[in-house]
Amino acid sequence: MKEQVSAGNSAPGGGTSPAFSITAEQMAAYVNGLGQFGALEDGSIHRDVYDGAWLEARKWLQEQMEEAGLAVHTDAVGNLFGRIQGREDGTILTGSHLDTVSRGGRFDGALGILAGLAALRAIKQLDKLPRKSLEVVALCEEEGGRFYGDFLGSRAVWGRVEVQELDELRDARGITLRQAMELADGLPGEIRAAERTDIESFIELHIEQGPVLEKAKRKVGLVSDITGLCVQTVRVSGQADHAGTTPMEYRKDALVGVSEMILAARRIALDLGAPTVATVGHLTVESGAVNVVPETVSFSLDARHPDPARLDAVTARLGEAWMEIAGKYDLQLEIKTVQRTPGTQLDPDLTAVLAAAADLNGVETVNLTSGAGHDSQIMAQHVPTAMLFVPSVGGRSHSKDEFTSFEDCATGSKVLASALHALAY
Ligand code: HGY
Ligand code: MN
Ligand code: MN
Repeated sequence: MKEQVSAGNSAPGGGTSPAFSITAEQMAAYVNGLGQFGALEDGSIHRDVYDGAWLEARKWLQEQMEEAGLAVHTDAVGNLFGRIQGREDGTILTGSHLDTVSRGGRFDGALGILAGLAALRAIKQLDKLPRKSLEVVALCEEEGGRFYGDFLGSRAVWGRVEVQELDELRDARGITLRQAMELADGLPGEIRAAERTDIESFIELHIEQGPVLEKAKRKVGLVSDITGLCVQTVRVSGQADHAGTTPMEYRKDALVGVSEMILAARRIALDLGAPTVATVGHLTVESGAVNVVPETVSFSLDARHPDPARLDAVTARLGEAWMEIAGKYDLQLEIKTVQRTPGTQLDPDLTAVLAAAADLNGVETVNLTSGAGHDSQIMAQHVPTAMLFVPSVGGRSHSKDEFTSFEDCATGSKVLASALHALAY
């Protein structure tokens, strides 16, 4: 399928960056193709890092990259790269994550990989050697769905996966990150070798996962900054007692305490006001039985704010409130911070390249911030990084109802292709 490439206007870099004709049909084939892997009966998707669906998805992507004429390689943690070699040193990287949340959608992460693939496929067909190399990456893990570790794929690119994580992080079945990596042909012993020193910039296309673009009737969003995120696991211990013989006032009921702690999280986030958000997504009654006063209950907290000091204020307020509640019911409280990623400003100059690329493709943009976390916030700590969003229908995401029209997928991919071309030629 040969795309026509029309001569464009002058690119931001001064060269002539063409407008590429990536079609909705092509993006539909890509999204539906990748969406086969991890598809559940209700139409949602679940791909955890290194699980069977993840392995099949990566194999399928490798075949698509090879079909597109890209040189393919994987690194020690299982990130998959497709490359167009340039004349000079230096690589411009695009891509996103291959894993999904449980019962997630077909676009979160996936579309950033597929848009990058479509862009490099179209650029490859120019049959002109770029100055800088171009790569699209399927990052192995971002969601933290299987292991609480965060941004495993993008941290590995910068040599920031700690060896102790390999044996400390365990999934719900007790499998360590090291064991899971080995089972998926990863090379945990060589995670340091995954570090790259040639990457000069990173651009990520992602679905917005919110309502702004749809309400603004814009097809591309330029992201100025990404919110900060703190994930904690909280374990509350009381006393197991007989549900029939223990008077209410004598109970040390961990579940009653946790119920008040969860409502306190909502109350405090509302009290601090937007863009503060706090979510309890996991809740486990470890000693669950109908006729036993709950002894041990654990839950997760996901708190977010773009300002690092305000993010710390959220978790400090929550900790105080939870201590008070624990005291009221004579409970023990153990809070563990398993992830803290500060809010991140993206690169204005690289964003200007995206703006010029949108202009070249006749696409009006809107500037916005991201309430979702992204691999870009790791990449931005090392190289100039920019993000473009495409609309989410109804602002929905992390759900089977996540949807972006294939026309909008194609529009975003064309803007990405023009920007990558402007940077690499
Ligand atoms: O949770 C997030 O914001 C992202 O989907 N990992
Ligand atoms: Mn997500
Ligand atoms: Mn994502």
